Amino acid sequence: RVTPLILGIETSCDETSAAVVKGGRQILSNVVSSQVEIHQQFGGVVPEVASRRHVENITCVIEQALREADVQLADLSAIAVTYGPGLVGALLVGVTAAKSIAYAKSIPLLGVHHIAGHIYANFLTEGITPPLVALVVSGGHTELVYMKEHGTFEFLGRTRDDAAGEAYDKVARSMGLPYPGGPAIDRLAHEGTPGTIVLPRAWLEEGSMDFSFSGLKSAVLNLLHNAEQRGQTLNPADIAEAFQAAVIDVLVEKTVLAVRKTNVKHVVVAGGVAANRGLRKRMEERAAEEGFVAVFPPLPLCTDNAAMIAAAAYPFYKKGWFHDLDLNAYASLPL
Ligand code: KG4
Ligand code: ZN
Repeated sequence: RVTPLILGIETSCDETSAAVVKGGRQILSNVVSSQVEIHQQFGGVVPEVASRRHVENITCVIEQALREADVQLADLSAIAVTYGPGLVGALLVGVTAAKSIAYAKSIPLLGVHHIAGHIYANFLTEGITPPLVALVVSGGHTELVYMKEHGTFEFLGRTRDDAAGEAYDKVARSMGLPYPGGPAIDRLAHEGTPGTIVLPRAWLEEGSMDFSFSGLKSAVLNLLHNAEQRGQTLNPADIAEAFQAAVIDVLVEKTVLAVRKTNVKHVVVAGGVAANRGLRKRMEERAAEEGFVAVFPPLPLCTDNAAMIAAAAYPFYKKGWFHDLDLNAYASLPL
C-alpha cells in the first residue's frame, strides 16, 4: 500500500498556508504566505483585510504546495483543513477551498481543530507519542492540554482573559514596539537587567492551572503611565525583561503542575510563543530538574502553517473519521 498523502490547508488568522505531508510526518511542502506586513500598519490583524487576502492567495498557495511536493490532486489521500477556532471569515476561505477540491476530485475531507494542529507540529519532527501534556501558547490561545492518546484532548487549564501572545502584542504596542510584539520583546528582554523592575505573577487559586495575563498587562501600562507623569524614562529592555520573566514563570510552573498531576514524561510546547527563547531555556531547565522531556517545534513550525494541520489529521484519516461536505467554519470550537 502507498503511504497516505494529505494536503493541509490553514487560513484561521493572517497566514495563508498549504502543505503536503506524507504518512503524517514527512513534510513534502509547506508554503506559508504571511500577511504580517499588511497588518503591521494597523498594529494588529484586521479580520476583513485578512479574509480578502486569503481569497487572493489561496489558489496560488495550494498550487505551489502541490508543485513543490511534486504531487497531483489525484494522488491525494485526503484534504485536511482548519475549521476553527479563528476568524470566521478567514477560516471560511480555507474550508471552501478544501470542500471544493474534495467535491470536484472525490477526495475525503478532514476538518482539523487549530490547536490540535499546533500540538501536532511537534510530531512532525520528534519521535514522541502520547501520553503527554501540551502547553499551547499563541496569539489567541493559552492552554494546558492533557493528551492521553492520539486524537483525545483534555483541558487542564486555560486563560481567563488574554492569551500569552496577545499580552505580548499589547504590551509591545504600549511600549511603541512593532507588531507582532513577541519577537521584539523577546529580543529586548535579553538586554535587560533582571530584578530592576518586578511585575506581578497571576498564580490564581492554589493548584489552579488556569492563566490570567490582563493584570500583568495593566501593571505594565501603569508603570509606563506613572513614569511619564514623573518625567522619568524607564529602560525598555528592563520592562521587557520584567514582563517576559513574569509570563515565563507562570507558564513554566503551571506546566510543571500539569506534569505532576498527569505523571507524563513528555511536554510539547506549541503555538507562536513557543518560539520564545526565554521560555525554551527555562522550560528545559525545569524539565531537567523535574525529570520530564520538553519538546519544542522548530521555529517555522511554531507559527501558523498547514503542515501541522495535515499532521493532526493523520490519526483521524487512519480511523476513517471523515467530514461531510457540509463542514462549516467556527470562530470558537471545542477541542
Ligand atoms: O500561533 P501564532 O502564529 O498565531 C496564532 O494562532 O495566534 O502565534 C502568534 C503569536 C503572536 O502573539 C506573537 O507575538 C507571538 O506568537 N510570538 C512570540 C514570539 N514569536 C511569536 N511571543 C513571544 N516570543 C516570541 N519569540
Ligand atoms: Zn495558531
